[in-house]
Amino acid sequence: MIAVSGTAVSVLSLGAVNIVPMPAEMKENRAVVQLPSDKLKVYAADPALEPLVDVWAEFLGKPYRPGTEKLSTGFTRIVSETVLPKIREARDMSAADIRLDIDRSLAEEEYVLTISPEEKVVISGGTAKGVWWGMQTLSQILVQSAASAGDGKPLSLPGLYVRDKPHFSYRGAHFDPCRHFFTVDELKTFIDIMALHKLNTLHWHLTDDQGWRIEIEKYPLLTKVGTVRKETKVGHINDKEAGYDGIPYGKGCYYTKKDVREVLEYASARQITVIPEIEMPGHAVAALTSYPWLGCTGGPYEVWTTWGVSEDVFCIGKETTFDFLEDVLDEICEMFPSEYIHIGGDECPSVRWKDCPDCRKRMQEEGLESERQLQGYLLHRIEKYLNDKGRKIIGWDEILEAGVTPTATVMSWRGPEGGIAAAKQGNDVIMAPNIYFYLDYYQTADPKANGEPLGIGGYVPLEKCYSFDPYDRLNENTKKHIKGIQANTWSEYIASFDHYQHMDLPRFSALSEVAWSEDKTSYEDFLSRVTASMKPMYEYFGYIYAPYVFEGIK
Ligand code: ACM
Ligand code: ZN
Repeated sequence: MIAVSGTAVSVLSLGAVNIVPMPAEMKENRAVVQLPSDKLKVYAADPALEPLVDVWAEFLGKPYRPGTEKLSTGFTRIVSETVLPKIREARDMSAADIRLDIDRSLAEEEYVLTISPEEKVVISGGTAKGVWWGMQTLSQILVQSAASAGDGKPLSLPGLYVRDKPHFSYRGAHFDPCRHFFTVDELKTFIDIMALHKLNTLHWHLTDDQGWRIEIEKYPLLTKVGTVRKETKVGHINDKEAGYDGIPYGKGCYYTKKDVREVLEYASARQITVIPEIEMPGHAVAALTSYPWLGCTGGPYEVWTTWGVSEDVFCIGKETTFDFLEDVLDEICEMFPSEYIHIGGDECPSVRWKDCPDCRKRMQEEGLESERQLQGYLLHRIEKYLNDKGRKIIGWDEILEAGVTPTATVMSWRGPEGGIAAAKQGNDVIMAPNIYFYLDYYQTADPKANGEPLGIGGYVPLEKCYSFDPYDRLNENTKKHIKGIQANTWSEYIASFDHYQHMDLPRFSALSEVAWSEDKTSYEDFLSRVTASMKPMYEYFGYIYAPYVFEGIK
């Protein structure tokens, strides 16, 4: 307790402000700044920042009632008592509690946050992005202060100076609605969760063997036929005896063009870029089922009902495959303004190409000596097509084996090795190594004993995520190719959005700090900040998080 103007109020004690990810520079002082308990007035000093006020008000609007709720999906939602004052736009600066401003001397995503008795709270950013990330830092401080003050009491913030900017420009989270579908509203919540962790790139995986999930006007069967599988594998893929559920899945489960516009607008307002992924040449069974002429054998095919890697892939011999892919990419580029388009490229067997007269003919005509080179032919042709439309490609690390051009960005998923090799040969890299950042992997050493829901396997506890060094085995010349970090959460075993959150939280905290903070602290310090700041944030918003690390379970 510190006495302010003769009244005893609870204030976060000096050194007790906990922020994740760790800011580049943070200094607290003994000043105390009191804010009202009913509403906080925010003044946008630059018109470009005005939309942020409403978005932040919506973001901090409390969606759930306090308490502990057992959900029908088997997960527990814990919602804290913390109540924040309402956010309102201030018309004049002198009446404001919080002032937002642009400072062009700062970098695009950089911000300075000051809390002082003279000016109350000021956030300056190089652009709206920087200001928005500063507002995320302030959100954490407000929630901690409100929790410390108690419901309905004025907030007392400590004097503070934070100067902060991200280490990596690409801080990504991948979202898989193909194996199990998630609604636009759920995706919006996912975007909120990303923003909370200062993640700025959503990788939207839109097509796979088990479901095609995006409307393409020229090929209506993709969303009539390609969205639906007749049943789904029960239990783990290795559990042969568990069989299938006999229940059709996926009718109407796709995003319309209107949905895409809505998601892009929502993400953009939260300073998040969306990169779509259209898988090729593998993971294509849903497309082949819709249009069997896309495959080497001509089918018939069936939208996949199980998980893994199918031998049925796009035929690279037939020109009609390229007509299809280019038409799809035309509509994708119309919908998505992103600089990058992800074209997949992973897990593509070549058995069908070996037996296909069209593929053999293509290899002969183009002088291709192996099926991997045939895959490279598709990759290069599609890359050129997208480059001509002003876009760049990202592909999974298998594109290295297919023979990658210097302009493609490699997403390293089979460990960091693909990314290291790519950086050494001069390609840009996103690190998404499964052994550190596959969040469909288990979070404890003994998932059964600890009551974890069914997962794909593996063991990636929070500490493992946090230990990732993106520059391992790289030197000054090659480090510059590491553009960022991403976590992937594949949804084979994740049938509900509650479960999705359980897999991502709190591990997104580690993703956030590895991607944002140039200098990580120790795992112990990180965990104490996650416990003091992110856990209350999850509880404030009513997000589902995995409890294991907070219960000392490894
Ligand atoms: C992948 O996990 N197959 C990219
Ligand atoms: Zn073929």
